[in-house]
Amino acid sequence: MATACTHYLFLSLSFSLLLLTSAVSEPEILLQFKNSIDDPLNILSGWSSASSLHHCNWTGVSCTNAAPFLVTSLNLQSSNLSGEISASICNLPSLAHLNLANNFFNQPIPLHLSECETLITLNVSDNLIWGTIPEQISQFKTLEILDFSRNHIEGEIPENIGLLQQLRVLDLGGNLLSGSVPVVFENFSELVVLDLSHNTFLVSQIPVDIGGLSKLEQLLLQSSGFYGEIPDLFSGLKSLMVLDLSQNNLTGVLPQIELLLPNLVSFDVSQNKLSGPFPDGVCEAKGLVSLSLHTNFFNGLVPNDLISECKNLERFEVHNNGFSGNFPSWLWSLPKIKLIRAENNMFSGEIPDSISQAAQLEHVQIDNNSFTSRFPQGVGRVRNLYRFSASLNRLYGDLPPNFCDSPVMSIINLSHNSLSGRIPEVKNCRKLVSLSLASNSFVGEIPESLADLPVLTYLDLSENNLTGLIPHELEKLKLALFNVSFNKLSGRVPASLISGLPASYLEGNAGLCGPGLPHGCLGDDKPKRKQSSFAKLTCALVIITIAFALFVLAFGFYLMRSHKQRAQLGMWRSVFFYPLRVTEHDLLMSMDEKTARGAGGDIGRVYVVTLPSGELVAVKKILNFATQSSKALQNEVKTLAKIRHKNIVKILGFCHSDDSIFLIYEYLPKGSLGDLLGKPDLDLPWSLRLKIAIGIAQGLVYLHKDYLPRLLHRNLKSNNVLLDADFQPKLTDFSLDRIIGENVFQSVVSSESATSCYFAPEYGLTKKATEQIDTYSFGVVLLELLTGRLAVEMEPEDPTLDVVKWVRRKINITNGSLKVLDPNISRSSQHLQQMLEALEIGLRCTCVMPEKRPSMAEVVKALQSLETTTFQGLELSADVA
Ligand SMILES: *[C@@H]1O[C@H](CO)[C@@H](O)[C@H](O)[C@H]1NC(C)=O
Ligand SMILES: *[C@@H]1O[C@H](CO)[C@@H](O)[C@H](O)[C@H]1NC(C)=O
Ligand SMILES: *[C@@H]1O[C@H](CO)[C@@H](O)[C@H](O)[C@H]1NC(C)=O
Ligand SMILES: *[C@@H]1O[C@H](CO)[C@@H](O)[C@H](O)[C@H]1NC(C)=O
Ligand SMILES: *[C@@H]1O[C@H](CO)[C@@H](O)[C@H](O)[C@H]1NC(C)=O
Ligand SMILES: *[C@@H]1O[C@H](CO)[C@@H](O)[C@H](O)[C@H]1NC(C)=O
Ligand SMILES: *[C@@H]1O[C@H](CO)[C@@H](O)[C@H](O)[C@H]1NC(C)=O
Ligand SMILES: *[C@@H]1O[C@H](CO)[C@@H](O)[C@H](O)[C@H]1NC(C)=O
Ligand SMILES: *[C@@H]1O[C@H](CO)[C@@H](O)[C@H](O)[C@H]1NC(C)=O
Repeated sequence: MATACTHYLFLSLSFSLLLLTSAVSEPEILLQFKNSIDDPLNILSGWSSASSLHHCNWTGVSCTNAAPFLVTSLNLQSSNLSGEISASICNLPSLAHLNLANNFFNQPIPLHLSECETLITLNVSDNLIWGTIPEQISQFKTLEILDFSRNHIEGEIPENIGLLQQLRVLDLGGNLLSGSVPVVFENFSELVVLDLSHNTFLVSQIPVDIGGLSKLEQLLLQSSGFYGEIPDLFSGLKSLMVLDLSQNNLTGVLPQIELLLPNLVSFDVSQNKLSGPFPDGVCEAKGLVSLSLHTNFFNGLVPNDLISECKNLERFEVHNNGFSGNFPSWLWSLPKIKLIRAENNMFSGEIPDSISQAAQLEHVQIDNNSFTSRFPQGVGRVRNLYRFSASLNRLYGDLPPNFCDSPVMSIINLSHNSLSGRIPEVKNCRKLVSLSLASNSFVGEIPESLADLPVLTYLDLSENNLTGLIPHELEKLKLALFNVSFNKLSGRVPASLISGLPASYLEGNAGLCGPGLPHGCLGDDKPKRKQSSFAKLTCALVIITIAFALFVLAFGFYLMRSHKQRAQLGMWRSVFFYPLRVTEHDLLMSMDEKTARGAGGDIGRVYVVTLPSGELVAVKKILNFATQSSKALQNEVKTLAKIRHKNIVKILGFCHSDDSIFLIYEYLPKGSLGDLLGKPDLDLPWSLRLKIAIGIAQGLVYLHKDYLPRLLHRNLKSNNVLLDADFQPKLTDFSLDRIIGENVFQSVVSSESATSCYFAPEYGLTKKATEQIDTYSFGVVLLELLTGRLAVEMEPEDPTLDVVKWVRRKINITNGSLKVLDPNISRSSQHLQQMLEALEIGLRCTCVMPEKRPSMAEVVKALQSLETTTFQGLELSADVA
């Protein structure tokens, strides 16, 4: 009893002592730290004085192994934390490692952490840290690992950083640092990793004293502003494994590299202005995996006597240089080689049959050289090869029957060579997407078996000597490009190939006939009509079936939903980003047929709801497919709701239950661009159309490039462009994939993409969301603006004719771009030149080849330059008139 009492006395005494000296227990220090942190995901909920866990077992906390169990490490990476990084943490007497990487801390560099006297690791990578690196950075005397990468740190690197001589890792990559990097590295004798990459505002030479870092394993200076010659670093970097100097402005020749070699794994100096010979002896680096010299001015020969070495090489990239002479034959049979890129050089020589020994080979690109060779049989035996591209060379002879036997082959480009003989029937390569054999001397017929390749999309057989009919089986394919121009083909062209593709793909074949071609086919009007009405009937049937299936599906969901709704009223959760003063009940009650807008169709219906305050909002109702947790859903909507751009509709809030999601958008009384274009008496002057086009493009650029995380719209159409009172366009219905989940989005959209012409042709095949697909959709909207036609307008003779095909065909047949412009705007020819240039942009955006479409940023620039040339346009149009 007595002992217990003294014990208690002692405890309370020491407690008050602790208070006096403001020394606090470790759990309290941690709680103090937690206090200044915003923790939306409740990662730190277990940090609590009420917790039964020892604080060493709290989330992210690690301690010494034995009593008295002192905290040594705090790892709270990737936890969506924000708020303040409090110096209170430095009261932990043994804290050595602090990792707060990948959070949302938005503040200057936490200099006060230099009070942590035992700190070895400070990792605040991937946050929103801003401001300059202060001179006082040198106070972090004990630091060995300093990772400030991927923040918004700006200004020059202070010389004082040279005092952090214990550093093993210095990572300042991915910031906004500027100026010249000081020459302060001589004392960093322990440095293993130096990363200054992705600092595009640096304008600096490579500090010469980096060459003295004998323990350095990784030197990462890529994509920054380094210029001038590479100093003689390499002899001192005895431990170097990874060297990346790519994408800078380096000039001159490479320094001697022999001494660099013992440990070298990756050597990348690509995309500079380096010149001189191939770094001889590089293959003495036995462990070399990746060698990248591309896009420089290197020239001369690549030695051909290295067969015994470079056994581990996986990537060899020397494209876009001036190399000449025989291509090194040892490369073709390296056991681990995956990638060979040598295009745009002057290499000559053969591609040997021993290529079949390169069992790992995936990608070969040797276009635009002087290879003089037969097409090697061995290519067909490489199991992993998915791209073989050797256009613009001197390949000759027949294609072997196995040329396309690799099971994953996707792209073959042998155009502009001297290949001859018949094109073999293809038996394998079910993944082939693109086959180009243009400008060779192939004879014989187009192989029917091409029609069995399920994803073939680009087929270019132009400029050969092919004869016979175009196989009607090809109608099965969804070809985006089918170029057979300048051959000797004859006979009837399958109907869908005529209507679906530009006429120029067929030109130069005097014997071809069919509607829209110079020659109609003789004496077969009847079968033609039969066939096309049959096609129409099938099409109608398909559409009816799809519509019915969707209806049944929707009705099923409706039944389920209304059943659930009765059972679970009150299970709604809402988040408002704007003072809305409305309940879910109000919303539900006011959503009925009367307030519904549009026919619905895609991803849910929109209702215009009057709030109790009299304000109007637009509410989009989406079925909740529960593809993600409620919390994740909330985060996704928040991401979208944080967007503030004049050309993007604001999300004011949302609510969701287990079966529905309501997205609440600002309401724009003027309605959508689609409504406007659909009016029979459309009267919208060109200046407003151009303004609308620019606004839409700016909205897309914001989503693609400026907003973080980067977003894609994925459902752009004129009905999803709303207009405010001043005709400022605002995008809506954007990025819904993030809300309903990729799979549901795809299944909803793919049922639509069969009928919607806003989707780029490649979307049906790849299902991959890209910026180029948004660009295509934009192009369709731009063509709608220019022609005054809706994307799909019922054409009696061809219901599949969308605005893109209509424009292309009209230009092809009549050769008159003027004729496609909306007569309402082109009648007064004041801005004709602008319109024609805008038409050109629209055509480029809707190019079938995604890589040929401009980026949205380029589109904005081009359209804006039209806007400012009004005056010039006046003069030009005077000429036209
Ligand atoms: C942490 O938890 C483990 C297992 O639950 C336990 O063995 C260990 O003793 C705890 N650590 C401390 C410091 O209490
Ligand atoms: C953390 O925030 C990001 C961006 O706001 C979000 O994308 C992510 O889903 C959030 N993480 C979790 C687990 O909620
Ligand atoms: C910093 O933390 C991030 C996230 O855990 C990690 O990827 C990175 O490698 C760390 N930096 C260092 C230098 O260890
Ligand atoms: C390196 O250390 C020496 C001796 O401590 C010192 O004189 C010199 O200034 C240091 N160099 C740099 C660049 O900090
Ligand atoms: C590269 O250097 C040249 C001349 O030294 C300069 O004009 C150019 O802007 C630099 N380019 C980059 C990307 O830094
Ligand atoms: C072919 O390569 C040369 C350089 O070797 C380059 O100048 C030319 O533009 C390239 N041609 C094509 C069509 O890319
Ligand atoms: C094939 O190569 C030619 C010439 O290099 C090029 O113009 C064309 O775009 C390539 N085709 C495809 C589909 O990549
Ligand atoms: C096609 O054949 C003719 C002779 O039959 C020949 O003159 C011409 O060069 C050939 N064209 C091509 C592209 O091979
Ligand atoms: C089709 O092939 C011809 C001849 O090679 C070429 O002039 C034309 O540009 C090609 N068309 C397209 C769209 O590739």
